Amino acid sequence: MIEDLWYKNAVIYCLSVDSFMDSNGDGVGDFEGLERRLDYLQGLGVTAIWLMPFQPSPGRDNGYDVSDHYGVDPRYGTLGDFVAFTHAAKQRGLKVLIDLVVNHTSDQHPWFRSARSSPDSPYRDWYVWSKTKPPHAHEGMVFPGVQTTTWTYDREAKAYYFHRFYEFQPDLNTANPMVQAEILKIMGFWIQLGVSGFRMDAVPFVIARKGPDVSGEPEEQFGLLRLFREFLQWRQGDAIILAEANVLPKQDLDYFGDDADRMHMMFNFQVNQHLFYALASGDDRPLVKALKKTRCRPASAQWALFLRNHDELDLGRLTEAQRQTVFSAFGPDPGMQLYDRGIRRRLAPMLGGDRRRLELAYSLMFTLPGTPVLRYGDEIGMGDDLALPERECARTPMQWSDEPQGGFTRHPTPANLPISGGPYGYEHVNAAEQRHDPQSLLNWIERIIRMRKEVPEIGWGDFSVLDAGAPGVLAIRYDWRNNAVLCLHNLKAEPQEVAFATGLDGDGRHLIDLLTGERSLADGNDRHTVLLEGYGYRWYRVGGLDYLLKRSPI
Ligand code: NOJ
Repeated sequence: MIEDLWYKNAVIYCLSVDSFMDSNGDGVGDFEGLERRLDYLQGLGVTAIWLMPFQPSPGRDNGYDVSDHYGVDPRYGTLGDFVAFTHAAKQRGLKVLIDLVVNHTSDQHPWFRSARSSPDSPYRDWYVWSKTKPPHAHEGMVFPGVQTTTWTYDREAKAYYFHRFYEFQPDLNTANPMVQAEILKIMGFWIQLGVSGFRMDAVPFVIARKGPDVSGEPEEQFGLLRLFREFLQWRQGDAIILAEANVLPKQDLDYFGDDADRMHMMFNFQVNQHLFYALASGDDRPLVKALKKTRCRPASAQWALFLRNHDELDLGRLTEAQRQTVFSAFGPDPGMQLYDRGIRRRLAPMLGGDRRRLELAYSLMFTLPGTPVLRYGDEIGMGDDLALPERECARTPMQWSDEPQGGFTRHPTPANLPISGGPYGYEHVNAAEQRHDPQSLLNWIERIIRMRKEVPEIGWGDFSVLDAGAPGVLAIRYDWRNNAVLCLHNLKAEPQEVAFATGLDGDGRHLIDLLTGERSLADGNDRHTVLLEGYGYRWYRVGGLDYLLKRSPI
């Protein structure tokens, strides 16, 4: 049964409809444009697409301020275009996940407009109010430096309302059964239109108790997670929820559920931050600790692994010294940092455009325990525009070709301009050129995705960290149903000779390099000796010829 769980070994690609492909020349990406690019995505080998919010919205937080949960923003198309898109994705075997933003709405949402208009509004209790300014109004801001409070006075309502995020994003009162019923209705709606699940936004805040008397770490309503899951599973058995929950490892099981009855997947923020620390410092030990701390999860649950996403690289879970190490390596300039905790750059410029480091980072993401999530544009090494405010710098349009506006739109002056000029401009970094270059990052990513699909042990198996006998070399073995895979990564810039045992007998003393097809047998002491280049990596299948006949890597 476990093989049926598609998300355990998926390759997810996330994108924003508005910055992917514009079909009608109005300067804004749309569903028709996205549909025309589905063959590109299928060719790349991804198996699922996660769409960031595309519902009607004033667009003050990149769509995370939804003003109608049952529609498509007219700039991107119609519901009809949406269904045409999900159908076209399905024809190509691609699953579609969409963002589910229900911690808050836009202040322009009809629910909030009604709620603020009168204490008697049927929607008044859909939000969180206080007659007086709560004592903790200046605590718990998610965007410090930009957001100054979590309670704002509304003249029309003559009361303060709670907003965990920006003031134009009033929090929904998720303890209200009417709000809960509406959330289920929203899920049911999109499921009916062809999606395979949701990336649920801000989950710890969705389930937190909210109110003027709440401060510090609010009590969580975990029962809600079960409610969401049960509903979804009844409607569509293979649909999933991927939770955005940057929580401590000790809380992981609260979110997954001991009985696998809560979230199917969660982003592994713990591993993400320590992975960047490992890349910055060459020290893999804190990463190993993070992997071990997040090991425990129900068999049917899965981690989502990512490098960069549409937000800042949040380093808030590292120690101060570790965070400073990452800042000085990847975002030394204060203009590259954000919210006192993160870096707002894209991956390629963070790694100095160094191909060896990019491959190392991706190879790690593809071989650590979980399901990889790629961000659009990172497969061609897109850069950022630090002149743009906050997180906008890493949300510029996809660079398709060296045509005007990077082939993203025919519009001469789109509001969201692709990066032009300089080493990351579309003139140099674009998908068309990389398609034709066998050595390009794009083609390398395509190959690594193919390889990842050939090692399902990573998604299904359990892992052990082996001793590679060299500092900064991470050696991980996965085991699943008598199959094993072993991956080595050298986090240091210098070449290192490593000697290690697979830890398995008999056939398990053989290794097959999945990149080159080369075979090797352990020496008399059961050890393999390998010279790893600086930032080098290897993926091996463990086993002899018999094994090869069973699962050929070709
Ligand atoms: C998390 C999203 O990833 C982020 O982009 C957004 O600003 C907040 N949630 C609020 O929805």
